[in-house]
Amino acid sequence: MRILIATSEAVPYVKTGGLGDVAGALVSEFRRLNVDASLILPLYRTIRDGAALHRCGIPLSIRMGGSSFDGELWASDESAAPRAYFVECARLFGRPELYGTSAGDYPDNALRFAFFSRAVLEACAGLDMRPDVIHCNDWQTGLLPLYLKDHYRDRFRKTTTLFTIHNIGYQGIFPPSALSTAGIGKDYFHPEGIEFYGRVNFMKAGLLFSDLITTVSPTYAEEILRKEFGFGLEGVLGKRKDDLYGVMNGIDYQEWNPATDAEIAAGYGPGDAGGKKACRKALLKETGLGNPNAPLFGVVSRFSSQKGIDLISDAIDELVGLGLNLVVLGKGEAYYQNLLTGASRRNPGRVFARIGFEERLARRIYAGCDFFLMPSSYEPCGLGQLIALKYGTVPVARNTGGLADSIRDYDHLRGRGTGFLFDDFTPSAMKDAIKRALCLFGREKERETVVRDGMREDFSWEKPAGAYLALYEKALGKAGG
Ligand code: ADP
Ligand code: GLC
Repeated sequence: MRILIATSEAVPYVKTGGLGDVAGALVSEFRRLNVDASLILPLYRTIRDGAALHRCGIPLSIRMGGSSFDGELWASDESAAPRAYFVECARLFGRPELYGTSAGDYPDNALRFAFFSRAVLEACAGLDMRPDVIHCNDWQTGLLPLYLKDHYRDRFRKTTTLFTIHNIGYQGIFPPSALSTAGIGKDYFHPEGIEFYGRVNFMKAGLLFSDLITTVSPTYAEEILRKEFGFGLEGVLGKRKDDLYGVMNGIDYQEWNPATDAEIAAGYGPGDAGGKKACRKALLKETGLGNPNAPLFGVVSRFSSQKGIDLISDAIDELVGLGLNLVVLGKGEAYYQNLLTGASRRNPGRVFARIGFEERLARRIYAGCDFFLMPSSYEPCGLGQLIALKYGTVPVARNTGGLADSIRDYDHLRGRGTGFLFDDFTPSAMKDAIKRALCLFGREKERETVVRDGMREDFSWEKPAGAYLALYEKALGKAGG
């Protein structure tokens, strides 16, 4: 079976969030399993500047919205594993960011990702590659299944598509003019097609035209069928319910392992409190936080309404009053950035806020904190809590999506669990969970058990990769039968 994973980001090349981790780790796991799988992504300027690549000699010239966009196909050098292809088009992707700047999304994102989706199919044709499955991810590749079934049907009769929803809160919704930009006929522009309240919805195309649909945790697969989580697509998903599966993400333990992480002050594993203590001490020093005995909470997050940053900022002064210290690393909406820098200014030596996307600091936070805070309003899967568990940092999180599927709420009576969950999306519910977590602080035996049990959880990619392979087979069977 030949798999092509089309994605707008993937480690080690480029990452702005969990999608990057997931696409990169999944293809690496396939390689370990000897599955023929490759990645294809846009050639952003940062990748072009930093990776060992070569041209494939395949031009990608596509007419979009009346003008011709010219690019070509690149690939990772032979030695680099696993195989990755890159769609080069400097006019569309040679920019400092992936999707936009702090001033907002790039205004031509419809064009950029429609081009990318078509270019993936043109690249396959140019390489004479007929993938059995093209695995699409999020709205950026939403049009691909439509193009495949329409524009490219004759060339790829046997190729099937699986579309993964990483976050239904981002759908790629554009004005009606996006239709002609993307070269899609008006006959698709109706409520049963890709029209969405008078506009064009790229993710809806992915949901309608892919052979199978997955999302990144079993709980989220149920949640998105409901109005409160579906962002208006719950009806479309309801109609495709039988083709919708929840496959829990994993993390790559070769990348995320406190025993081998070169970025942290000392290596450690379950049952080895010494190394973790050294990491904690180093983090306190780096952030200038006082009172080494105060429980230390960490946040590593995109700053968007999804992540519950407003709950944190509403509660922050009271939390400091409870005696804890907080380290926050994040980047995103200016509004949240200002809230958190303000909070750190009000609470010097107690709250440290760094605005930016810094993988190395993120690692030191995962390793150095006692608790990891993730009060998301919704969370399709969440990787932060999986990394925190592995690094012995006890998650305090909202009981939703993948957080609910990966954290076992601590039961004080039985003395078992791996974290602390709360239900209501309110500062007071979050504070109650934090207070429960704080009870653990000072009860060292109990705390050790929670930390150790969390570190021993297995969220490796082995199981999810197997689940995807089974679904690829199912997609092929469906298309053939
Ligand atoms: P999402 O994809 O919704 O942003 P996830 O929890 O699935 O959330 O994945 C986030 C990934 O991005 C994790 O690997 C996390 O460590 C990383 N990350 C998020 N924000 C930052 C940041 N400011 N600096 C470094 N890494 C970050
Ligand atoms: C999205 C979701 C996050 C998930 C990630 C990878 O960014 O917000 O919950 O872990 O995709 O699937």
